[in-house]
Amino acid sequence: MEVVITESPRAAAATAASVVRGALRADPSLVLGVATGSSPLLMYQDLAVSVERNEISFSQARAFLLDEYVGLEADHPERYGVFIERSFTRHVDFGRSAVFGPDGSSDDLADACRQYESMIASAGGIGLQILGIGVDGHIGFNEPMSSLSSRTRLKTLTMATRVANARFFSDNVDAVPRHVVTQGIGTILDAGHLLLIATGGNKAEAIARAVEGPLTSMVPASALQLHPRVTIVVDESAAEHLSYADYYRETFNSKPTWQTL
Ligand code: F6R
Repeated sequence: MEVVITESPRAAAATAASVVRGALRADPSLVLGVATGSSPLLMYQDLAVSVERNEISFSQARAFLLDEYVGLEADHPERYGVFIERSFTRHVDFGRSAVFGPDGSSDDLADACRQYESMIASAGGIGLQILGIGVDGHIGFNEPMSSLSSRTRLKTLTMATRVANARFFSDNVDAVPRHVVTQGIGTILDAGHLLLIATGGNKAEAIARAVEGPLTSMVPASALQLHPRVTIVVDESAAEHLSYADYYRETFNSKPTWQTL
């Protein structure tokens, strides 16, 4: 695991975007796992600028969403399929039908989850997975107590997550769906490289528990400790509770020139 501490949310976005650019240059047909929520937004903007400048292209790449709310109507602005189109994929050059998400409005959600796993497998698996982290330590929508080997399935959101996400629903927590479908922790751990972005002091506790705490299903993001290739990009505020922050800074600043993120 590599922890990169940056001076601001914008610098975190720039660092994370450089990881995506590197992965895309190495493999133009990259299968990218995409997160919604606020954390990756600046990074998505940075990537859109890179596409506009012809520095990179997503034309051969595919994207798979991490999760989706259950029960929101097809054109609901906070449906994650709609959110990712609005905040990222429409601004870059993915081909037609290259962006996929789990079907949160299926009559048979269990089957929709199985199908989503098959779609990811048929694409050859996710090469680079972008992640945020919840204040309760969730990744995807794998809330505390999620099995560390779980696959895509239905989950119930904690009240902490519904309260945190109420800002997307006119601050009305009752409008935040209770249920979601999410890639499991096992699904996430199958990706080749995990890139987690967290900014702001409200994420500091979750980051410290995920990076330096014990491996436990009570902090789903601690499962990243099991993965051989994880990059965690945080700003100073989200790094506040990391007891080895100086070591992470020193490691990053003394990286050999041949070693990329
Ligand atoms: C979103 C997702 C969630 C978010 C997390 C943080 O697709 O899977 O795990 O990454 O809830 O959300 P923000 O970034 O809005 O703080």
